[in-house]
Formats: sequence, C-alpha cells, structure tokens
Amino acid sequence: MKARALALALIVAMPVIGAGSPAAGAAQDDVRPGDAARGAQVFDHSCAVCHSPIAGLHKEGPSLAGVYGRRAGSVPFFAHYRALRGLDVVWDEQTLDAWLADPRAFAGGDTAMSVKLPDAQARADVIAYLKTLK
Ligand code: HEC
Repeated sequence: MKARALALALIVAMPVIGAGSPAAGAAQDDVRPGDAARGAQVFDHSCAVCHSPIAGLHKEGPSLAGVYGRRAGSVPFFAHYRALRGLDVVWDEQTLDAWLADPRAFAGGDTAMSVKLPDAQARADVIAYLKTLK
C-alpha cells in the first residue's frame, strides 16, 4: 500500500518537474548587451584573418570600417563579394546578428564568407565592436 502511494506520487510529480525545467527557451534571454572590448577579442580571434578594421584595406573579406549602418555589399573596390553585392540590406543589430549566426542561410546558400558565429553573446559583443569602427 505504501509503495503504491509512493509510485503514484512520483507519476504525479514527474510532469511538474519537466515543465519547471529552466532550460526551456531561455537561451536568448541570457544575452547581455554587447561589450565592445570583448568584441575586439572575438574579432581578433575569428574575423581578422579575413577582415581589417582599417578603411580601404581589404583582405579575403572587405574592410569593416564604417560597416554599421552601411548598405551590405557596397564597399568600393572590394572584389570578392558574392552573396552580398547589390543586396537590399542595411547592416544593423538584427541583420548583422542573422548574418553572423549563419551567412549561408542569410544569403540563400551562396557566400564567400565560410564561418559562423554560433554563440549569441559573441555576436552581441562583436557587433558592439563593429559599431566603434568608423
Ligand atoms: C574566411 C574569411 C572570412 C572570415 C573568417 C570572416 N569573414 Fe566576414 N566576409 C568574408 C567575405 C568573403 C565577405 C563577403 C561575402 C559575400 O559577399 O559573399 C564577408 C562579409 C562580411 C560582412 C559584410 C560586409 C559588407 O561590406 O557588406 C560583415 C559585416 C562581416 N563579413 C563580418 C565578419 C565578422 C564579424 C567575422 C568574424 C566573426 C567575419 N566576418 C569572419 C570573409 C570572412
């Protein structure tokens, strides 16, 4: 009798524990506002091999000087645009976040930028850093 009551209590309690799990859909809420200093480290580590923060200095990717608020694919004399050339997109927090999370998905499959930044906090930080590049 006692064992049966315990089993019953467990069955009743289980779904409650499941529903209260803090993991459900919380990931995006945990992102702090972007930190430009941390973003500079992300940039050095993950972006600088292909991008320079100096205006007019292009590598495999275009210079990112002044990129925030600029139209995508519009840096003069940069030869390697594929997906972005002529695209009707202006770089702001939302568009940059989507681009950096998955360039291929953003650009419909074809782009010369082959890296993703899956960590939402790293994206917020690097976007804060990009805003400082004039
Ligand atoms: C392997 C080289 C490479 C790496 C690494 C790389 N990029 Fe790029 N990036 C490119 C190329 C090439 C383009 C142009 C894409 C196209 O038009 O298909 C580009 C385009 C961009 C653009 C749009 C620029 C414009 O003029 O519209 C932004 C913003 C950008 N990258 C940010 C980043 C950031 C931030 C990182 C680091 C997290 C990064 N990229 C890492 C190669 C790279």
